[in-house]
Amino acid sequence: MNLLKATAQLDKTHIKRIIHAIGTPSKTVYPPSEDSFLMLQALSSVEMNGLTVCDVGTGTGILGLFCAIQGADVTVTDIDETALQATLAAAKRLGIVVEPILSDVFASVNGRFDLALFNPPYLPGKEVSDSAVDGGPDGLTLTRKFLKDLPSQLKENGHGLLLLSSLNNPRKVISQYREFSFEVLATKQIFFEELQVLDLRLR
Ligand SMILES: C[S@@+](CC[C@H](N)C(=O)[O-])C[C@H]1O[C@@H](n2cnc3c(N)ncnc32)[C@H](O)[C@@H]1O
Repeated sequence: MNLLKATAQLDKTHIKRIIHAIGTPSKTVYPPSEDSFLMLQALSSVEMNGLTVCDVGTGTGILGLFCAIQGADVTVTDIDETALQATLAAAKRLGIVVEPILSDVFASVNGRFDLALFNPPYLPGKEVSDSAVDGGPDGLTLTRKFLKDLPSQLKENGHGLLLLSSLNNPRKVISQYREFSFEVLATKQIFFEELQVLDLRLR
């Protein structure tokens, strides 16, 4: 992927430093991809300084590191220990601190946050052979877990950023969670699908 093209609308100084610190991820860790960059695009409209942020399914840590480098107090979670180790190594290279928690979505996370992020595994399929990308039969198993627990993980006036694909019928999904209002912060057409980043707030 052409990283400069993918990050065209972003603050390249931070992104370049983070990509450099991440280096080449191990094969099991999801590498920064189009969906990660769309999340970064949405995140770049958020003033980070002083926020508490939970980056769920952090992978290489790209999203959480982007928040932390701008002054947010960041917790990163993943079901994959290797991903947390990769994130911690990158944080160390950047000279920043993030708190890692090995967790199934929010299951082992205590506390409430100003902002919770999730770029979930969303590919539909009968089998989950790669937990970084496979999201169960309709692709929404992890997204539903996130949406179910999000209200109890947010501070008052907190919000969530969630990536959805047209493969997951985003309008239908969100209509099933009436406790949230939502705004589409960023969209991108890639190959056979459209990606969207939703900003979710409790009504
Ligand atoms: C599509 S990748 C996104 C990685 C990174 N946030 C990014 O944007 O590049 C999804 C991540 O969710 C993690 N994951 C999968 N199942 C999970 C679960 N049950 N709880 C927490 N994280 C999970 C995967 O290990 C993977 O790192």
